[in-house]
Amino acid sequence: MNDYLRIPGLIDIHVHLRDPGQTDKEDFNTGTAAALKGGITTIFDMPNNLEPVFSVEKLSEKSKIVSNKALCDYGFFFGSDGENLAEFEKAAGKTIGLKLYLSDTTGKYTVTDESQIYKIFKKWTKKKPVVVHAENEKVGLAIKIAYDCGNILHITHITGENELAQIMDAKKMGMKISSDATPHHLFLSLEDKERLGKYAEVKPPLVSKRNQAYLWNHISDIDCIASDHAPHMKKEKESEISYYGMPGLETMLPLLITAFHDGKLTFEDIIRMTSHNPSKIFNLKRDDSSYAEINSEEEYLIENETLFTKCKWSPFAGWYVKGKIKRVFLRGTRVYEDGKILVRPGFGKNIK
Ligand code: NCD
Ligand code: ZN
Repeated sequence: MNDYLRIPGLIDIHVHLRDPGQTDKEDFNTGTAAALKGGITTIFDMPNNLEPVFSVEKLSEKSKIVSNKALCDYGFFFGSDGENLAEFEKAAGKTIGLKLYLSDTTGKYTVTDESQIYKIFKKWTKKKPVVVHAENEKVGLAIKIAYDCGNILHITHITGENELAQIMDAKKMGMKISSDATPHHLFLSLEDKERLGKYAEVKPPLVSKRNQAYLWNHISDIDCIASDHAPHMKKEKESEISYYGMPGLETMLPLLITAFHDGKLTFEDIIRMTSHNPSKIFNLKRDDSSYAEINSEEEYLIENETLFTKCKWSPFAGWYVKGKIKRVFLRGTRVYEDGKILVRPGFGKNIK
């Protein structure tokens, strides 16, 4: 017997596995392996592939390509540039929600025209969330439009008071609205920029210690933690051009457990933000047979060399974390133990 701590398998609602199109950065096999190693049993993959998921055809194509590579369970987001409204009805049934870019980031799929944003919100089903990447004034715009059109709204990767205060007001008004924060905004700040250089570049950008403290002080108001795992290769990150994003699947849970040891959040907070709320918001069945076993006292060093992600770097390399994921079970099957994946590619299933 062991005295490992059991935690429900994490549901990471914001992940970029780059497959198909940019499998030099990551693919569905390496990405879902990294997820399992991090105690994550379900990931939601974003639509900003090289050829974006704006049509049912692209969605089916992606589904076909990745299904025999997946090790953990997964769902897909549908995307929109405002020109694909005719696809929405069919796509809604095959996806977990719509992802909309209202601010610029990797892939340049930002929708800026307000009337077009209205059309998108109106047309998208009122039964599944619209997840928005919204920075600064775009947060208020997303809330206003979702309120007018009656959508379920989720604001991803919030970075401080601007988003959270507006979200809390909207909740009070009865809106179905939720948020997530990423480990990099919670554990890295502007102060890390000197050390990380271009590796610190991410959308939304890292924030000041003061903003970061706001997030920690309001952790009970934040609904989810999501990795926004966005791998780019080292040579890309070090180049003249900016490649925004950082990997995070393998480090999210250990960082959270370390924060638990530091008294910054409770175990209940971790479970609430990484499985209960993701299930509720995206209407998934509760699954008690998917879980991770953790030696919460074991301390270890995060090292680039041992990462499963294809990009082989982490902004947290060199950090000691306390909380080692020993074993992971998915739908009752032992899928990961002590650094090894125990199932074949294709074991992971599309949850829709
Ligand atoms: C993401 C990516 O690279 O796909 N980059 C990032 O900086 N977070 C896109 C995104 O989520 O904004
Ligand atoms: Zn993202």
